[in-house]
Amino acid sequence: MITLSVAPLRGITNSTFRNVYASLFEGIDYALAPFVSATAGKKVNLSVLKDILPGKNELMPLIPQVIGANPADVKMMFNVIHQELGYDRININMGCPHRPIVSKGRGSGFLKKPDSIWKMLDTICDDAKFEITLKTRLGYDDPKQILGLIPKFNDYPISELILHTRTATQMYKGATYPEIFAQCMNISKIPLVYNGDIFCLDDYTKLQKMLPECDSWMIGRGLVSNPFLPSEIKSGKLVADGEKLATMEEFHSQLFAEYQNILFGPAHLLGKMKEYWCYMADNMPDGKKLLSNIRRTKTVESYNHTVYKYFHE
Ligand SMILES: Cc1cc2nc3c(=O)[nH]c(=O)nc-3n(C[C@H](O)[C@H](O)[C@H](O)COP(=O)(O)O)c2cc1C
Repeated sequence: MITLSVAPLRGITNSTFRNVYASLFEGIDYALAPFVSATAGKKVNLSVLKDILPGKNELMPLIPQVIGANPADVKMMFNVIHQELGYDRININMGCPHRPIVSKGRGSGFLKKPDSIWKMLDTICDDAKFEITLKTRLGYDDPKQILGLIPKFNDYPISELILHTRTATQMYKGATYPEIFAQCMNISKIPLVYNGDIFCLDDYTKLQKMLPECDSWMIGRGLVSNPFLPSEIKSGKLVADGEKLATMEEFHSQLFAEYQNILFGPAHLLGKMKEYWCYMADNMPDGKKLLSNIRRTKTVESYNHTVYKYFHE
């Protein structure tokens, strides 16, 4: 059986989403949490860890993710997450492509200066009492860069290497390179996880044919736009659009209710729900029109009216 995981989407696949998702949909084995930043200095402020508190994550197995440039700071954050929150698997982000992150040597900044990768791994893998997993991209601006890195990754006790099959300079658009992932499969001693552009069952089936040895797949945007996707992949059968609507309505109404409790003020609430609709509308009948109607709403009342009308008329 294959393993399917939720990709971290900061602001989207947080604990609120994960809990509502897990209560309604099947097929996911674990989630990788959006990153928390390693903080400089001796003490970690526990409030930055609120999204990964075990008590808020009982419905879906979770691997926390840390982003940082300074090996000592990342190691300290890993130790706090292990010792104080009890996680036995922690991930390091070496893939985030956003300029303010990269310019500080974090995320894809590691790919820009590969020496920093080994300095980081020397420190965090030394005497680690927990499993370390790593998420990165195929390269900074050359998708073949990864082929030179894998032999070195092989020397470290990394339990899982998640590869978003793009370069950092591509951000989230343009071609993915599954054929380079296939070459990585041949040379990696570390189990690899495929990530990038799985939006429908057909995308997965094509990739699976190209990569028959790959048994672990991570899905981000495709899962938010079609929450049924993991169960479709695991069963090999599509769920008909008509059968999806009632569950999508429930999914939306639970997400809305949760955010109503935690977000302050209608502008934040509407902003957050509109973020989700940018993904969800992609996969709904007449989704473009729905999204433009939702985007135009300015009050919670008109928003609720628009959503209700969509599901009931
Ligand atoms: C809004 C957004 C936020 C993201 N946040 C993170 C993050 O916190 N950590 C991370 O490793 N990747 C992050 N990513 C990258 C995704 O995890 C994933 O690698 C990428 O979206 C490609 O997978 P997909 O095509 O299945 O979405 C983010 C992507 C998006 C679009």
